[in-house]
Amino acid sequence: MHDLDLEACWLPFTANRQFKAQPRLLAAAEGMYYTTVDGRRILDGAAGLWCVNAGHCRQSIVAAIQAQAARLDYVTAFQMGHAAEFELATRLAALAPGDLDHVFFGNSGSEAVDTALKIAVAYHRLRGDGARTRLIGRERGYHGVGYGGMSVGGISNNRKLFAPLLPGVDHLPHTHDLARNAFSRGEPEHGVELADALEHIVALHDASTIAAVIVEPVAGSTGVLIPPRGYLRRLREICDRHGILLIFDEVITGFGRLGTAFGADYFGVQPDLMTVAKGLTNGAVPMSAVLVRHHIHQTFMEQAPPGAIELFHGYTWSGHPLACAAALATLDLYRDEALFERAASLSGVWQDAAHALRGAAHVVDIRTIGLVAGIELAPRFGAPGARGMEVYLRCFERGLLVRATGDIIALSPPLIIAPDDIERLFAILHEVLAGIA
Ligand SMILES: Cc1ncc(COP(=O)(O)O)c(C=O)c1O
Repeated sequence: MHDLDLEACWLPFTANRQFKAQPRLLAAAEGMYYTTVDGRRILDGAAGLWCVNAGHCRQSIVAAIQAQAARLDYVTAFQMGHAAEFELATRLAALAPGDLDHVFFGNSGSEAVDTALKIAVAYHRLRGDGARTRLIGRERGYHGVGYGGMSVGGISNNRKLFAPLLPGVDHLPHTHDLARNAFSRGEPEHGVELADALEHIVALHDASTIAAVIVEPVAGSTGVLIPPRGYLRRLREICDRHGILLIFDEVITGFGRLGTAFGADYFGVQPDLMTVAKGLTNGAVPMSAVLVRHHIHQTFMEQAPPGAIELFHGYTWSGHPLACAAALATLDLYRDEALFERAASLSGVWQDAAHALRGAAHVVDIRTIGLVAGIELAPRFGAPGARGMEVYLRCFERGLLVRATGDIIALSPPLIIAPDDIERLFAILHEVLAGIA
């Protein structure tokens, strides 16, 4: 690999100069493990980036992509179709809770979010409620990097260089409360009242100006923030009271991460729109989708004149044949290997192992749900994020991939992880924590 020129490629969300000085290059993957270019095996504690839920390079997914590429490589996405996209939409509608029975395909979580926001605003407009344009996100939320997702998102570093963002956006407070909720398993006890901030936003702007609220059921990218008990249900109630659509961004929580098909199932709260990506194709081909409740879709169908396009929106790669093939094979694997149920049944062992890190050096909080753990570290004085980055690098040296966001280590292994790999993962993390300043 000495002759590989790293200069031209500008890596996303990466410290490029540091990376290129000390690159981390992966060459292969199988099951729970990556292999680096120098032949080291790396236990995948992050499912790639929260997406490889069935484990790496699964043969049936590989075969489905190969066969599709050889049979039908691309179909014009507009005014044309192919069987796999209809089959996939039907499967997703059947898997989704309630009457989320129509599916619009995109290629990334960011695109799904922007699609959902646009559908929400257009829906109100079509119903003659055109003043409802305001979008409400949440502090510390992550909804991708498009202008819509960035605007409703609540992570300062992702926003500050790119102003002006969308107008008419407001934010709920985040739900992180170390003082009251540290070391929670599952939903933390305190903070349901934070949902009432939506009532304050309604009082300030008036419900007649608000189109939708978007939240991640569990905020992932900001460092695993699990909603307080009853919080999502209360958000739902307030939205219902005021005719506001509730969008769940399930890009991370979809496809078994919490031990249920979707976060909506885990929390027993029905959203009006739901965005998914990542685990949809097991990470093998880029794809995302927005699932939409029946009456919302129906509004578009009824309002446009016969023969007219109902939604002026879409992507060249919407419903791409390779992505559909990968997604169908992925859904088969999830079903045939009962991987969502597996995640649920492993989650006790997983959470025990995570919480056993309590008392380890630098650890100020451990929070767990399903097959997710957030390990929050005390920041180094004057250098926030430095300790988290060092843990990330040292773990990689020792053969473990984790995700670091600031000083929070997020863990989200493939759902096929075995108990001995769980043990190994936390043993490495423990050693690393003990070995750094
Ligand atoms: C909740 C959520 N929404 C949206 C996105 C953006 O997805 P993508 O990176 O595929 O655009 C992410 C990515 O991590 C996410 O976690």
